[in-house]
Amino acid sequence: MLRDECMPSDELQRIDERVRENWPTGAAAAFEEAIEFHESLPREKQFATVLESADRPLLQPRAGVPLLDDQIDLLEHLRSAGSADLLPTTIDSYTRDNEYGKAEDGLSDARETGEATLNGFPAVNHGVEGCRELILATDAPVEVRHGTPDARLLAAITFAGGFQSFEGGPISYNIPYTKEHDLAETIEHWQFVDRLAGAYTERGVRINREPFGPLTGTLVPPSIAIAVMLLEGKLAATQGVRSLTLGYGQVGNLVQDVAALRSLRSLGEEYLPDEVTVTTVFHEWMGGFPPDEARANGVIGLGGATAAVAQPDKVITKSPQEFQGVPTKEANAAGLRTTRQLIDMMIEQDVRLDGVERERELIERATRELIDAVEAAGDGDVAQGTINAFDSGELDVPFAPSDSAQGAVLPARDDDGRVRIFEFGELAVGEEIREIHHNRLDARAETEGRDQSFRMVADDVDAISDGRLIGRPTGGD
Ligand code: 5AD
Repeated sequence: MLRDECMPSDELQRIDERVRENWPTGAAAAFEEAIEFHESLPREKQFATVLESADRPLLQPRAGVPLLDDQIDLLEHLRSAGSADLLPTTIDSYTRDNEYGKAEDGLSDARETGEATLNGFPAVNHGVEGCRELILATDAPVEVRHGTPDARLLAAITFAGGFQSFEGGPISYNIPYTKEHDLAETIEHWQFVDRLAGAYTERGVRINREPFGPLTGTLVPPSIAIAVMLLEGKLAATQGVRSLTLGYGQVGNLVQDVAALRSLRSLGEEYLPDEVTVTTVFHEWMGGFPPDEARANGVIGLGGATAAVAQPDKVITKSPQEFQGVPTKEANAAGLRTTRQLIDMMIEQDVRLDGVERERELIERATRELIDAVEAAGDGDVAQGTINAFDSGELDVPFAPSDSAQGAVLPARDDDGRVRIFEFGELAVGEEIREIHHNRLDARAETEGRDQSFRMVADDVDAISDGRLIGRPTGGD
């Protein structure tokens, strides 16, 4: 039975060999030789070192194009025109689905036509050599950002290729991303990824791991997001990961976002073992963006202001072209600059927000209840507990496409725009917390002269892209 236990080294080796046989480029991902490559990298390319020693929030965009030279140019542009502190390499969707043959076809087309035929960088197809060329050509640390439920081969190749940070996790790259992947299976696959990161770490090459905090990106109640971060953090720490960046996605209410980021950091430090260095990452709004670029800049600006107050270690920026999908490199750099301007103007101001402590207490209480329930559901084992709690709905994520989650929880904003829970399903939070959420939503319903209903939920999902925070009824309703 799957347990939250450190994978023995013979098993790590056995799986590593099998996984690398899946695709021709896997053969080059040899561990010992990869250690030597990492040891040759200067301090400014060591992801964990740069992130953990920073004295201000570092900025990182998302970016990935199919061809190696184009990817190098793109990252260079984000450094020179956007002053990105940390760089990304966003992986294409075929690779995320383990469809390396289709990625190869896309890559050939891109080489022939010069067009972006893939929505990201197919790192498996570029192989260890291509990845190293990228790492050598850039002058900042680079992270692999993706969305891959089974990322074992991607990890083996990119770690050997010199990347020192890897996004994702067994819950956060399953529940929000796919319908069919079994949670037990993704936990097992990510135990390999984390164990491999742990093996590098034991040899002095600290691989930073970053669970994907925003989950479905749509009105996720902070306690749920934070609970998932703590669980993925614990699973990773068991496998020897020592540099963990826990994430959280902006909901747009300043007080709630600041409270959530502070809770994320303090609960991370409390729940994860002492030998783990915990950092935090704030994602600018992951829900629907306004189509108007000027308005989109407003959303990004609020993200920057929030980061200035809460001071996470890292911010993942958005671009004013978010509405249309993958941004141009110019728009991507603009999102970085807008965020930096807000942070640098505000970070030295002593901003005190009323209500942060109260909100924090509420978030932390609910988070603790969720973690307690998971531990109970697994008789003390986090892996089993996670599977069982998602199965029963004691742990749940709103709007999750996955069959492994109930998806019964529904969020809505309260009268102040904070995300509350409208429908709890079986979520393992007690009566007191349920009542607080219910009362806050009731206050909103009264303001709007309507009953609490699914209509509110739907209105809230569209509100920010429509130019507001709260989905108030408009004249036509
Ligand atoms: N380059 C830049 N941004 C990307 N995103 C996805 N793929 C890429 C890419 N190749 C961004 C989307 C969205 C987020 C989920 O990821 O624009 O903001």
